[in-house]
Amino acid sequence: MSTRSDSDGGPRVEVMHGVNLNQLGRRDPLLYGTLTLAELERRIADDARDLGLRTRFFHTNHEGAFVERLHALEGQADAILLNPGSWTHYAWAIRDALEIAALPALEIHLSDVESREPWRRVSVIRELCFATISGRGPDGYRDALALLREHLGQDRS
Ligand code: DQA
Repeated sequence: MSTRSDSDGGPRVEVMHGVNLNQLGRRDPLLYGTLTLAELERRIADDARDLGLRTRFFHTNHEGAFVERLHALEGQADAILLNPGSWTHYAWAIRDALEIAALPALEIHLSDVESREPWRRVSVIRELCFATISGRGPDGYRDALALLREHLGQDRS
């Protein structure tokens, strides 16, 4: 499990990565790109800063830890950007915890989950997320942050 935060001003976005995403850099680069999770997080933090958003990062390979982080977000975050990895497709406990967190949430995937195996087309969290971005690689995270800012009414452009 790992955490990192950025203490500049602006709305607080909890960026949550789930199972196997700490293996980025070793996973199929055609699907997931070549950045490690640490590199991806740095890029997200830089993009968020440019957009006037604060970020805090969380990764775990343990479903219960992911659930407990969602439970603990009350008063700690204004929005959630989450890529739960394969939990997306079946982890109903994460869906329920996301509902309990009751924060604006955006679902993101590096790969295009719609054009892969049929089981990846199922998302148990989608109905709780105001948007889903998939298949845009690391650039998708910048798009996601811009959408989050707009959703939070912080769009200064
Ligand atoms: C993923 C897509 C999932 O189907 C897969 O299990 C992952 C990563 C993505 O970012 O493309 O682990 O969430």
